[in-house]
Amino acid sequence: MAKMEVKTSLLDNMIGVGDMVLLEPLNEETVINNLKKRFDHNEIYTYIGSVVISVNPYRSLPIYSPEKVEDYRNRNFYELSPHIFALSDEAYRSLRDQDKDQCILITGESGAGKTEASKLVMSYVAAVCGKGAEVNQVKEQLLQSNPVLEAFGNAKTVRNDNSSRFGKYMDIEFDFKGDPLGGVISNYLLEKSRVVKQAGGERNFHVFYQLLSGASEELLNKLKLERDFSRYNYLSLDSAKVNGVDDAANFRTVRNAMQIVGFMDHEVESVLEVVAAVLKLGNIEFKPESRVNGLDESKIKDKNELKEICELTGIDQSVLERAFSFRTVEAKQEKVSTTLNVAQAYYARDALAKNLYSRLFSWLVNRINESIKAQTKVRKKVMGVLDIYGFEIFEDNSFEQFIINYCNEKLQQIFIELTLKEEQEEYIREDIEWTHIEYFNNAIICDLIENNTNGILAMLDEECLRPGTVTDETFLEKLNQVCATHQHFESRMSKCSRFLNDTSLPHSCFRIQHYAGKVLYQVEGFVDKNNDLLYRDLSQAMWKAGHALIKSLFPEGNPAKINLKRPPTAGSQFKASVATLMKNLQTKNPNYIRCIKPNDKKAAHIFNEGLVCHQVRYLGLLENVRVRRAGYAFRQAYEPCLERYKMLCKQTWPHWKGPARAGVEVLFNELEIPVEEYSFGRSKIFIRNPRTLFKLEDLRKQRLEDLATLIQKIYRGWKCRTHFLLMRKSQIVMAAWYRRYAQQKRYQQIKSSTLVIQSYIRGWKARKILRELKHQKRCEEAATTIAAYWHGTQVRREYRKFFRANAGKKIYEFTLQRIVQKYFLEMKNKVPSLSPIDKNWPSRPYLFLDSTHKELKSIFHLWRCKKYRDQFTDQQKLIYEEKLEASELFKDKKALYPSSVGQPFQGPYLEINKNPKYKKLKDAIEEKIIIAEVVNKINRANGKSTSRIFLLTNNNLLLADQKSGQIKSEVPLVDVTKVSMSSQNDGFFAVHLKEGSEAASKGDFLFSSDHLIEMATKLYRTTLSQTKQKLNIEISDEFLVQFRQDKVCVKFIQGNQKNGSVPTCKRKNNRLLEVAVP
Ligand SMILES: Nc1ncnc2c1ncn2[C@@H]1O[C@H](COP(=O)(O)OP(=O)(O)O)[C@@H](O)[C@H]1O
Ligand SMILES: [Mg+2]
Repeated sequence: MAKMEVKTSLLDNMIGVGDMVLLEPLNEETVINNLKKRFDHNEIYTYIGSVVISVNPYRSLPIYSPEKVEDYRNRNFYELSPHIFALSDEAYRSLRDQDKDQCILITGESGAGKTEASKLVMSYVAAVCGKGAEVNQVKEQLLQSNPVLEAFGNAKTVRNDNSSRFGKYMDIEFDFKGDPLGGVISNYLLEKSRVVKQAGGERNFHVFYQLLSGASEELLNKLKLERDFSRYNYLSLDSAKVNGVDDAANFRTVRNAMQIVGFMDHEVESVLEVVAAVLKLGNIEFKPESRVNGLDESKIKDKNELKEICELTGIDQSVLERAFSFRTVEAKQEKVSTTLNVAQAYYARDALAKNLYSRLFSWLVNRINESIKAQTKVRKKVMGVLDIYGFEIFEDNSFEQFIINYCNEKLQQIFIELTLKEEQEEYIREDIEWTHIEYFNNAIICDLIENNTNGILAMLDEECLRPGTVTDETFLEKLNQVCATHQHFESRMSKCSRFLNDTSLPHSCFRIQHYAGKVLYQVEGFVDKNNDLLYRDLSQAMWKAGHALIKSLFPEGNPAKINLKRPPTAGSQFKASVATLMKNLQTKNPNYIRCIKPNDKKAAHIFNEGLVCHQVRYLGLLENVRVRRAGYAFRQAYEPCLERYKMLCKQTWPHWKGPARAGVEVLFNELEIPVEEYSFGRSKIFIRNPRTLFKLEDLRKQRLEDLATLIQKIYRGWKCRTHFLLMRKSQIVMAAWYRRYAQQKRYQQIKSSTLVIQSYIRGWKARKILRELKHQKRCEEAATTIAAYWHGTQVRREYRKFFRANAGKKIYEFTLQRIVQKYFLEMKNKVPSLSPIDKNWPSRPYLFLDSTHKELKSIFHLWRCKKYRDQFTDQQKLIYEEKLEASELFKDKKALYPSSVGQPFQGPYLEINKNPKYKKLKDAIEEKIIIAEVVNKINRANGKSTSRIFLLTNNNLLLADQKSGQIKSEVPLVDVTKVSMSSQNDGFFAVHLKEGSEAASKGDFLFSSDHLIEMATKLYRTTLSQTKQKLNIEISDEFLVQFRQDKVCVKFIQGNQKNGSVPTCKRKNNRLLEVAVP
């Protein structure tokens, strides 16, 4: 059976409504009541479509456990109750599977839980994305960048004990598999004024307190610091300790995090030195000193602190001291130095501290980026997480709030744009008619602030750059002129009330009607903060520092790179970075988390309706819901819709066979839902009013109860019946088995009894027959014996007279004859093969047949030899005759002989007829050539050898030159008297000639040849046939030859092995020629 999949939905066990799109009626009150109801039931998350609203619980809830992560992993957005994990999962999956870059926009006011939300998103993504050592290190570095940035960028405020005082946008980069590769962090507008001054009940940035509480004595000494907070002017003392926060422990956490992120020890040290220098700057104090020329001048009260700072940072003390007392203005190659009065000196000091700290912070962000940046160049998918300060409305709102609120206006702008765009795209995709939606577009407010020609920021920049006296008042005047007619701008002097001052507004203020509410800005400080001025003398002094980090923070202090152009103002810088951010966000798929703060006390369980109402209003949630359900409040794909409601209609329950859309159509018709209440998209059904959906839900609930009863009923019946059937079946089986067993047993008994009886009867019968047969046999035997004896007696009586006389001889002869006959008959079968060389002969059976047996063997052998010979042709006969002759001549006489037996005698080895070289030679000889072969003729004088062609014809022996074929000598066979050779294994032979014959004039010949046996034999045979004389063949190891006049002795000795296996011939003296035979 297939596993049943449990289909759940957001709509199950919902408290209030999980998706406010379903709120009915829709107004501020119902929205807030819904949030409150859910908040009271610990449901801090609520959806508006795909936007998550999060209400800060101010206590830890058990909804972020690893089990919860698993619950939300790979589930559809609307399947489970609203949760930040559902949004994270949706974003991550759509990034991984659909290749869409994502951004997660977290907004809300300070303390609403944005930073916590961003951490939850990151930890969820870290938990579900890939694993492995490398990936884990990347994750760890990304996660550990938070504590570092929080230490330097967060502070306790009245609203939040851990308030981020900077905007943060972090891009997490993934590879195609969805494994994290790295990240990039951008920071926006650190609230640096906090470094020098904090409001009541607030603290400076955490790091100062952490350093003083957590550093070892040794480190403090090195940094020239004291542990006592009260020693430092820049630290507010009334709230130095925060409940539940252990600064010392946090200091260790931060140092550890820095190490994990990849800071070197010396880098951490440099950073702490800068922090110490900032702290100590606050302790420099100035006193007035009048100069003679009447100018005010300031002087440092106690130079000890200054000295220590200079030691710490490697700055020349006099340089820094001068920078605190003078200001140099360069204009058109002219340098003018003016003295600073006490107020200006303090201003300079604070500006330096603020700049030093904020630049250090930017450096930290860059340094972290360097560590966490993706190592590969492969295409990356990006998930951006934006944790930026929310809309701020204070009693006193200044430049910072103005900037922050501007940023929020921009975010709202893209929120509207993207939500509407998405909605519109969905309608087009689903082929649903688009109806125009009325909503408030805040573009007009953005324009009021950022317009390049007459926007507030442009006006401010213009004032800052204008020559002449510039004050915040002149800036306000300008605003009054330029923006007065703008419907979102108000001031006491604005144009629309030129004649009738708006007395509800104080002086030196202007009010902007933001999309989220009206905010009154104090104009004081706008110009200054926008200018963000740091005297050049100070930046130059910093650049001269021996401290590498500080030097790198003030590149503009390098006199070689002096730049007379003003640096961009804070406002325009921010505007530019916001524009980049917006551009970046627009390319990504947005996911919204809107954080709400339920009370001002940072307390759990308190839901301040007034406060929430305010946030609901300025977050534009109502607007959001309206936009979302402008056309249709609810939509759902056909399949899940049919799955959820199919039990409401007979045709679709329990299974609908056709397409889901047709099923939904049938369902809605059956339920008689008014046609104007819904529309069919391509893949989704669109429901106009939540009412309809709730009606469906109610019907479903009702029906489910009925179905449950029905299922229960059927199940119970089925259970009892199956049980009964099972029992019955078992009973039948048991009975059958028992019967079978009893029958088997009875049958076995009968069978064995029958067998016993049967065997007894058979035995008795057989024994009876056996007895009869035995008796009969004995009677017959007795009769035969009697008859035999009787015949015997008769015969013996009759033949007695013939016996004894020749019996012995006859028996002997007969026996002998039989034996001989048997011997021959057996021999016939035992004769061996007809091969003459077969030595086999059967063994002799009887000694008396010995001679016959031998005789028979020789007869048989002779007969088979004859048989063999009869097969020879004439030519073969000749060859064998020759071989026989050779055997008679040389066998057992010459050692060379046995090796010649296997060689066939070929005679004319040289084919003179065919070789054209010997044409002349051939022509000269008419007779038949018996031998034609190359021999070595031994030179008579020195024993060396030359090749000669040796020719034997019927009558002559000829020697010819091997090359030319020229006949050298010719000897008639009658003149050959003798042939001599050794008994050894060599081919030397001498041909002796008849004394006095013509050929003998030079003397006898001495040759050596490979075919000595053949030559000698042929010579012998030819001589015999031609001259009828036997040629004398002498075999001796020492013989005489006649060389011209000399008789020379040819002597064969067993030579040394020096010349290998070739016999050598050497003339020793005129009487001796020695042949060495190996
Ligand atoms: N989901 C949450 N669960 C428990 N406490 C939370 C949650 N979100 C926020 N808080 C509490 O609220 C405080 C402020 O949250 P924070 O994220 O720093 O606010 P913001 O960044 O919006 O200023 C946190 O320090 C924490 O105590
Ligand atoms: Mg924060």
